[in-house]
Amino acid sequence: MLLDLVKKARSYRRYDPKKPVSTDTLKELVEAARLTPSAGNLQRLRYLAVTEKSDVLALTKEVKWAGYLSDWDGPTDDEAPTAYLILLSPESTGVSQIDVGIAAETILLAAAEKGIGGCMILNFPREELTERYDLAGKYKIELMISIGVPAEKVELEEMKDGNVRYYRDRSDVHRVPKRPLREVFLTPKDL
Ligand SMILES: Cc1cc2nc3c(=O)[nH]c(=O)nc-3n(C[C@H](O)[C@H](O)[C@H](O)COP(=O)(O)O)c2cc1C
Repeated sequence: MLLDLVKKARSYRRYDPKKPVSTDTLKELVEAARLTPSAGNLQRLRYLAVTEKSDVLALTKEVKWAGYLSDWDGPTDDEAPTAYLILLSPESTGVSQIDVGIAAETILLAAAEKGIGGCMILNFPREELTERYDLAGKYKIELMISIGVPAEKVELEEMKDGNVRYYRDRSDVHRVPKRPLREVFLTPKDL
């Protein structure tokens, strides 16, 4: 069921580095993303796949992970993702941020169906990466998505007292509060 897949498509930040995700599998994720709606059907996004181990490990150290987990510095090399998809837009036009969101969630859903996980990452060193991948004058980085086989348990729970902060419990399960349906589903009478 779609809802099961949506529940499974969490943000995973610890992975099994011994289970690499192949370029063919990354292509399958992008195949799903490329078929999604886009403003004006312009399809401006491009998907840069980074799979070289040393590059992936470098990126893993450079991006900022899990802002609410203040005593965790991000995945170690033994917990690192095995690939990144970097969503690019043409520097000259940019892209609708709605397009970026649609594509990114589609990638996570397609990954979840295959037992793969990822995390959307907006907190990355833009200038360094623009230089490293020679993007200046060509592409702007819109979003990064780490990809790998998850090695952590992530569970959703109902939000209490409006507290949006995810946390790890005593069993090292990453717990993510979500607002209840009654809070987010409105009819005109509720306004
Ligand atoms: C646009 C966007 C940017 C995000 N950037 C980061 C990031 O830079 N680092 C990170 O660890 N998680 C990032 N996340 C993941 C969120 O923290 C995550 O979606 C949220 O905690 C809820 O968890 P869930 O995805 O499992 O529902 C981002 C998510 C979105 C949608």
